[in-house]
Amino acid sequence: MTTQEFLGKENFIISTQTVSESCPSNIALIKYWGKYDNQIPANPSISYTLNHCKTNTTMEFFVNEPFSVQTFLGGNEEVKFAEKIEKYFKNIEQYLPWILKGKYIIKTENTFPHSSGIASSASGFGAIAKCLMKLDEVFSGKESEEESLRKASFLARLGSGSACRSLYNGLVVWGESQVKGSSDLFAVQYPNEEIHEIFKDFNDWVLLIHEGQKSVSSTVGHGLMKTNPYAERRFLEARENFTPMKEILANGDLEGFIKLVEHEALTLHAMMMMSEPAFILMKTGTLEVINKIWDFRKKTRLPLFFTLDAGANVHLLFPNNGSEDKIKSFIEAELLQHTQNNGVVKDVMRF
Ligand code: PMV
Repeated sequence: MTTQEFLGKENFIISTQTVSESCPSNIALIKYWGKYDNQIPANPSISYTLNHCKTNTTMEFFVNEPFSVQTFLGGNEEVKFAEKIEKYFKNIEQYLPWILKGKYIIKTENTFPHSSGIASSASGFGAIAKCLMKLDEVFSGKESEEESLRKASFLARLGSGSACRSLYNGLVVWGESQVKGSSDLFAVQYPNEEIHEIFKDFNDWVLLIHEGQKSVSSTVGHGLMKTNPYAERRFLEARENFTPMKEILANGDLEGFIKLVEHEALTLHAMMMMSEPAFILMKTGTLEVINKIWDFRKKTRLPLFFTLDAGANVHLLFPNNGSEDKIKSFIEAELLQHTQNNGVVKDVMRF
């Protein structure tokens, strides 16, 4: 952080503050889909935090100028994003009383290709929340590392629900559940000592099946759960799925993990198809890849499986347990052809 000028009256800082932060993306294993007011999730979720897919953000805060926000993504001005951030800052003023007392220039870039369809809202709001907590240190004083992270997670949630999970490494839980300390208001790290080693060295290769804007945004998708006749059952199921998930994670049951994670992904998309109006975010390539994965698993018994976000891209999951070279060769030879431009982002889980 650089402080260019302190002209303070009664120690009040009226200079420009520049802070920079970076935050990774995450991929949910038990999915959050459906929410109540104030970004309260309808069910708990658990995700893996990624390592390479990140957003890097620099925030310049010109103290005492009229409130305004200007944003740049990869060097290009993004007016729509600035409007979203303005609204977000107004919404969180009650938690950061200084936030509207100046002008912001926010520059962000993603380490993954723009328009790849990889959700940048989780890493994006995660990075913004971390920047805000650095500024908060200047205006409100230093909190413990733990408190500061928790508040960043709380603030990120108010920007984009799943973003609150990106503040922590490893497996991360958001939403009141049987996981100790879990809350609807912020995410917590899943206890490391309760995770079998096999789940700590995992790959996530994202096949970019369809690059570009999706036809239905997450916000609209969450909203459609309000009238979905299967919603209550789904919320209950997600909650119930924490019981087998906890056992699977503890005893290293890879087969059980595969079954549960794929079921969660397909349920998310089934909910979209059962919405009114219905929508489908999977593309032909998504289905072709899923069928090829199932065939491959049947023939080889190797642990390659998938999860899906709210989009067409396929997240290919596989552990580094000795079989990864064969799996990688299969992906290159058989699955890459279903992407739009041979697009694949090779990531690993961050522990
Ligand atoms: O955080 P949002 O509002 O973009 O919703 C994300 C929802 C899913 O990515 C589909 C699931 C999840 O838990 O991340």
